[in-house]
Amino acid sequence: MENVVDMSRKADDGVFSRLLRLLQSLAMPVLAKARNHPSPGSSPGLKIARSFAPKQSRKLNFCEVKSQKPEETAAIARRVASLLRSGDVILLKGDLGSGKSTFARALIQALCGEETEVPSPTFTLVQTYDAPHFVVWHFDLYRLQHPEEIYELGIEEASLNGVSLIEWPERMGVIMPRSSLEIEFSYGSYENERIIRFTDWKDRLF
Ligand SMILES: Nc1ncnc2c1ncn2[C@@H]1O[C@H](COP(=O)(O)OP(=O)(O)OP(=O)(O)O)[C@@H](O)[C@H]1O
Ligand SMILES: [Mg+2]
Repeated sequence: MENVVDMSRKADDGVFSRLLRLLQSLAMPVLAKARNHPSPGSSPGLKIARSFAPKQSRKLNFCEVKSQKPEETAAIARRVASLLRSGDVILLKGDLGSGKSTFARALIQALCGEETEVPSPTFTLVQTYDAPHFVVWHFDLYRLQHPEEIYELGIEEASLNGVSLIEWPERMGVIMPRSSLEIEFSYGSYENERIIRFTDWKDRLF
C-alpha cells in the first residue's frame, strides 16, 4: 500500500514515544477503571499496560492494544472517534465475531449520540449516520458479490465527503481506497480477549 509508513526508517525516539503515549491514552479509561476497582492478579488495565512493552520496537509500523471485554473495545473506539475527520477511510479487518461491529457501533454512537441505533449492515451492506461535521458511512462488505458493486453503494462519495468504516474490506479486491487507516481485530488468549492492531496511523497522530 502506498501510504504505509515504515517506522523502522522514519521514526525517531520522539515520534515513537508520542505514538506509545497516544495508545496508552486510548487505554486510559480502562486503566482508570482498573485503578478504581483493582482485581488482584487479573487487572485488565495492567494487562493493557504490559501489552505495550513488547511492541516498543522501532521496526514496527503498527501499535496494538488488548481489550478484555466489549466495553473496553467500545472505550477505545470512543477515543479513536475524536481523531477522525472528513475523508477518512478506516478498514476494519478480522475474523467473524472478532469485534469489528462492536467497535464501529461505539464509534458511531460517540459521534452521533449514545442513543443512536447502529444495526450491523449485514444485508443492506451500508448504513449512513449524520455526525455534526460529516456523514459516517458504515459498510459491511461480507456479502458483496463482486468488488464493482462497491461503487453502487456510494464508496466514492463516502471517501470524498464522509468518514467510512469498512468491515470486510478484503471483499473490495483490488478496488482499495488510495489511502486508509487500518484496524485489525484478532482473538487473544482468553474467551473475551481481543487484540486490536492499528496500522498506518502515524501520519494521523503527529
Ligand atoms: N473484547 C471484546 N471486544 C469486542 N467484542 C467482544 C469482546 N469480547 C467478547 N466480545 C463479543 O464478541 C462479539 C463480537 O461481535 P461483532 O459483531 O462485533 O464482531 P464482527 O467482527 O463485527 O463480526 P462479523 O464479521 O460477523 O461482522 C460480540 O458478541 C461481543 O460481545
Ligand atoms: Mg460485523
